[in-house]
Amino acid sequence: MSWTASILTLFPDMFPGPLGQSLAGRALENGTWNCDVRDLRTFGLGRHNAVDDTPFGGGAGMVMRPDVVEAALESVSRHDGAPCVYLTPRGRPLSQADIRRYVSGPGVTLLCGRYEGVDERVLEERAIEQVSIGDYVLSGGETAALVLLDACVRLLPGVMGSVDSGVEESFSDGLLEYPLYTRPAEWKGRAVPDILLSGNHAAIARWRREQSEKATRERRPDLWAAHLSHASRPSVHEG
Ligand code: ADE
Repeated sequence: MSWTASILTLFPDMFPGPLGQSLAGRALENGTWNCDVRDLRTFGLGRHNAVDDTPFGGGAGMVMRPDVVEAALESVSRHDGAPCVYLTPRGRPLSQADIRRYVSGPGVTLLCGRYEGVDERVLEERAIEQVSIGDYVLSGGETAALVLLDACVRLLPGVMGSVDSGVEESFSDGLLEYPLYTRPAEWKGRAVPDILLSGNHAAIARWRREQSEKATRERRPDLWAAHLSHASRPSVHEG
């Protein structure tokens, strides 16, 4: 059985969306992964298949009902231990470590919220992980689910052509990637750094490491602090 994403959404036509293209699309076609999409509306209640209701305590918007979400989760009825993830700006930040954990298992079940969100009780009852893809608010969890899936699918065996390209990059060692250059060697008066043309592989590796550390220090002080706290990884500046 290949790696399977079960997706619960009110907008099933949004899947596989961009993941039907390029490497992920080819992997979908050749069965490296499955995209099992369920329309939450089919689990709605009453004549109008209602999936939401007004929030207890008042306030704006609507809340997705726990019984409806539970029925949808039951329909997936995966007994393979695949984690269930609810995409929400209230979640903890999604990390590359999470992605690696999802990829190492049989797949994921992704719950995409609309409206103001999902009743908290079903999230507790089903031990659903709450995950955010960043500090901004999307109109629903679908695009966040696509981001999470893109990050997973590219790591599945055989999806990326070159073996190296999936690992040696940002976050695998807690640092941002070094800058990249290709031909022409001079463009609009801007030369490629000499060292990259030197053929000295050790010097190039050292330069790239320095550039990674500089970019991380300047752009992501949070990642830099975390990197420094892992004493087992000496930086070129620490010696
Ligand atoms: N749904 C709405 N905004 C989101 C975000 N930033 N991350 C995950 N899910 C979301």
